[in-house]
Amino acid sequence: MIFESHAHYDDEQFDIDRDTLLEGLTEEGIEYIINVGANIKSSYECVKLAKKYDYIYAAIGVHPHDVKHMKEQDLESLIGLASYDKVVAIGEIGLDYYYDFSPRETQKLWFREQIKIAKDLELPIIIHSRDAAKDTFDIIKESEAKQVGGVVHCYSGSYEMAVEYTKLGFYIGVGGVITFKNANKLKEVVKKIPIDNILIETDSPYLAPVPNRGKRNDSSNLKYIAQEISNIKNISYDDVINLSNKNAKRLFRID
Ligand code: NI
Repeated sequence: MIFESHAHYDDEQFDIDRDTLLEGLTEEGIEYIINVGANIKSSYECVKLAKKYDYIYAAIGVHPHDVKHMKEQDLESLIGLASYDKVVAIGEIGLDYYYDFSPRETQKLWFREQIKIAKDLELPIIIHSRDAAKDTFDIIKESEAKQVGGVVHCYSGSYEMAVEYTKLGFYIGVGGVITFKNANKLKEVVKKIPIDNILIETDSPYLAPVPNRGKRNDSSNLKYIAQEISNIKNISYDDVINLSNKNAKRLFRID
């Protein structure tokens, strides 16, 4: 069975057919989904979805795009939400220097603060990092986030950096980008990193893999991602599904 480690089914793109779609995903072989928050409002929505569906778990947190408005009391909201036992991670949190929607110093501040609460709550973190590889890794290291571990979602860094993350016990999240023709750097990472360090994800509704590139993404597309990993690593499709499933259960402490 497939473990979807990163999706945003609270996104408004799913408003027209959310329930029908989610109910159909078990038939597509999906066992569990982590629905990931991006701000306080969506974190509440993640918990709502986790309450409604047995196979959905929640991650809660504020994305670097949204931290420009973050306040101390938002940390309290996250801590309160985390008391629900199907909240299994803090995320997505991190740094985004590609869009720079929030000032960089503000991004760093709230990244550190949210790592702090993850450590207090003993929850792993889901990291978003874009064009900010060095600062992200430095903060992970100096804040001793390895105590809780986590996953670098939609990994886009170098192989060398991926090795450093795995040394700290972090997983590498691999999504639709792996099926893109120009994804040579990511293909190298996937080839060389042990399957024991890889999680698979869609980041739905974004980043649909080939052959559905450009369309709305959903977890039924994970098969294309797993197939590509299987080709690159020269291991069976079933091994990719089963081992990445095991990795996700270990990280998020699910059954
Ligand atoms: Ni995401």
